Amino acid sequence: MRCGRSERRACPGVPAGESQGPPMPTATVILPAAGRGARFAMPGGGGRASPVGAPETKVFVSLAGRPVLAHTLDRFAALEAVVEVIVPVPPEAVAWARETFGERVASGRPLIFVGGGEDRVESVAEALAASDGKSDLVVIHDAVRPLVRRAVVEEAMRVALERGAAVVGWPVDHTVKRVSDGRLVAETVPRENLWLAQTPQVFRRDVIARAYERRHHVVGRVTDDAQLVEAMGGRVAMVRGDVANVKITTIEDLRLCEALLEAGWPFEGEEQGGRADG
Ligand code: C5P
Repeated sequence: MRCGRSERRACPGVPAGESQGPPMPTATVILPAAGRGARFAMPGGGGRASPVGAPETKVFVSLAGRPVLAHTLDRFAALEAVVEVIVPVPPEAVAWARETFGERVASGRPLIFVGGGEDRVESVAEALAASDGKSDLVVIHDAVRPLVRRAVVEEAMRVALERGAAVVGWPVDHTVKRVSDGRLVAETVPRENLWLAQTPQVFRRDVIARAYERRHHVVGRVTDDAQLVEAMGGRVAMVRGDVANVKITTIEDLRLCEALLEAGWPFEGEEQGGRADG
């Protein structure tokens, strides 16, 4: 993302009025972290999963010695475009989170904890209501995906600025079966054109604000933000991410993240967007 002749905010090293390219967009980052993690359990059911004093949810468990949320915050704090980071957590954890993580991210931008809602959509709605409303883009990323690459986030931001909405995902490379209630295979679903949606999901502010205003009209379970944009007839572009953008749901996912970090993720060259399509 280039720094240019932005009248909205000054760019270091670029004298006011000098043309260097398009204005740099600003972004609000929302990291939903208010899930209860019913599918996450430590092996044998014994021992605390989280640091002493922390609520028992997977975003606060230790990954390579630090809470999962600390890793995710690091991935976004370093981005120049980010002007605020808002994290919905379980309502009873707000005070604890403020005390533990502070009120600013590493870049000095505000870090705001809010009480989350009954489901992910309501948690994001709470975060949108707490935003200062001034940024160009809203970047929504599951707090339980701590290994997202910077180049992927930046590409999603670039595409969203141009197209209105962008979702990071990965093409389905397994054979897909639809299974009936009795665990019998009902059919094989052709996998052509099927993608697994991940996060981040990035939107121009007007687009996501409108989609969330209309969320109560959407029928059925909503499991990501793009679904609300689709429901109002909006177009959503897909951006290719990584399989390593693991969503920590089970203890195996946590161990996988640990192994990837141990192996040096993001691998050399990956951070420059070095993965070929195909
Ligand atoms: O399991 P699920 O897909 O709903 O979780 C994705 C993300 O949404 C997690 O980071 C989780 O903490 C968050 N979430 C939330 N509020 C909820 C449920 C999930 O912020 N009520």
